Amino acid sequence: MKIHVRKGSLPGYTTEAAVVTLFEGETALAGVAAPLDEKSGGLIGELLRRGDFTGRKNETAVLYTRDHFPVERIIVVGLGKRSDFTPDRLRGAFARAAQKIRSLNISGFSTSLDIPCMDYPLERMAEAAVEGVLLGLYQFLPFKTVDGEQGREVAQFTILAEEGTYKAIRSAAKTAEIISAATAFARDIVSAPANEMTPSDLAGEARKIAKGKNIRCTVLDAARMKEIGMNALLGVARGSDEPPCLIILEYQGGKKSGPPIALVGKGITFDSGGISIKPSEKMDQMKTDMAGGAAVIAAVRAAAELGLPVNLVGIVPATENLPGGKAYKPGDILKSLSGQTIEIVTTDAEGRLILADALTYAGRFKPSAIIDLATLTGACVVALGDHVIGMMGTGNDLKREIHEAGELTGEKVWELPLWEEYHELIEGDAADYKNSGGRAGGAITAAAFLSKFTGGIPWVHLDIAGPAWLAKERPYIPKGASGVGVRLLLQFLRNRFGTGKK
Ligand code: BES
Ligand code: MN
Ligand code: ZN
Repeated sequence: MKIHVRKGSLPGYTTEAAVVTLFEGETALAGVAAPLDEKSGGLIGELLRRGDFTGRKNETAVLYTRDHFPVERIIVVGLGKRSDFTPDRLRGAFARAAQKIRSLNISGFSTSLDIPCMDYPLERMAEAAVEGVLLGLYQFLPFKTVDGEQGREVAQFTILAEEGTYKAIRSAAKTAEIISAATAFARDIVSAPANEMTPSDLAGEARKIAKGKNIRCTVLDAARMKEIGMNALLGVARGSDEPPCLIILEYQGGKKSGPPIALVGKGITFDSGGISIKPSEKMDQMKTDMAGGAAVIAAVRAAAELGLPVNLVGIVPATENLPGGKAYKPGDILKSLSGQTIEIVTTDAEGRLILADALTYAGRFKPSAIIDLATLTGACVVALGDHVIGMMGTGNDLKREIHEAGELTGEKVWELPLWEEYHELIEGDAADYKNSGGRAGGAITAAAFLSKFTGGIPWVHLDIAGPAWLAKERPYIPKGASGVGVRLLLQFLRNRFGTGKK
């Protein structure tokens, strides 16, 4: 789909459909709704007067203007109550409008962001609208061979801007396009089945994004990992015939000698549980156990495309977790890259093992902060559900900033405590630590385990097990892979380091 920003105003612009947003319970037409209503002989006013539209969140209505003026249809969409407004409402509303337009088989539509709600800068509103459209129209189709309804695409979305705001809106739209494309890319690689997205395939995706951009991609193979002692990661990999790897992406957008931010993402391309095998029901969903890794690769790609003034190192430990003849077993003890030893209580707590070595490896880049993202625990889903990312960590500024980025992007995070009592639960018997502290507080003891490998560097762990994969669609997230974490990371980076060149 093409996004255009043009100078002009709506009532006079020739378009198949114009999107107009309205707040709930407000009948006095303001912004662009007023001239549209007037030019169309009072269609919007009539709709409201009849009580056929109340402005409820994401409610839509289609009005046909007949031959009144060059706007063929008006798509009215509700924003809910003005007092509840955030840009996330706009994402949802534009997603629903775009889906409606797709269902009508219209090829192009337009809007003017003349929304009378100026608590938020226009750029932010434009970004949210474009994200809503692009993320809301996303579909995962590469494996569908049958044509039909699903393959339909809307060709263009045009935002009309005034002389004075044109430049700002154009740049915001560009930013939103880059961020939305990265989110869609993450969704694609998470949705890809495990037979098509092995650790080597994931490394291939990382190499692809590095090509032609100012990103360096290095992939460590099993032999190299053995040399340096990444035995926690290699332990997990032993049950599978697919070769594991450690993917490293480096982007230098900041000062040459400046420390990077390290982004670490869990890359289990399939988690059967290993010898501690999972129940077969819903095991297919475990193809998504590399969603953290996907978010890291996609975020590095977008940071480079946006030219963010920051140095990044993205690290993705990648392997399958299978119960093969050489698989690691409960009771085994593994010596991690850090030198610390780990007793295996369950082979299904494999994410923390590969992350342990990846976090230690991240330390070698002397980062100023480490953020890891992982579909780490079912316990986090039990605690917080699938709307929220579980956050734990040691960097207080970092936690505050990530929380704030969560509010702005709608990828909300909530902190769980990491008190010392939890650390006692993962003390090992025969080794330094054990890889599970049991069911109680499972999201937290997993984070406590990870903390042992962060070398005192300010660190935040984001457990995305809930929001990474949705059983039910939301306005701008179709059912399935959400691409969660990509927008959150980018917003955090933009807030901390500035927006870079566009
Ligand atoms: N990949 C799973 C966590 C998960 C569960 C992600 C549900 C998405 C949806 C992880 O590797 C795992 O199996 N965790 C175990 C840990 C336990 C054995 C200590 C869990 O949560 O049950
Ligand atoms: Mn597991
Ligand atoms: Zn897992």
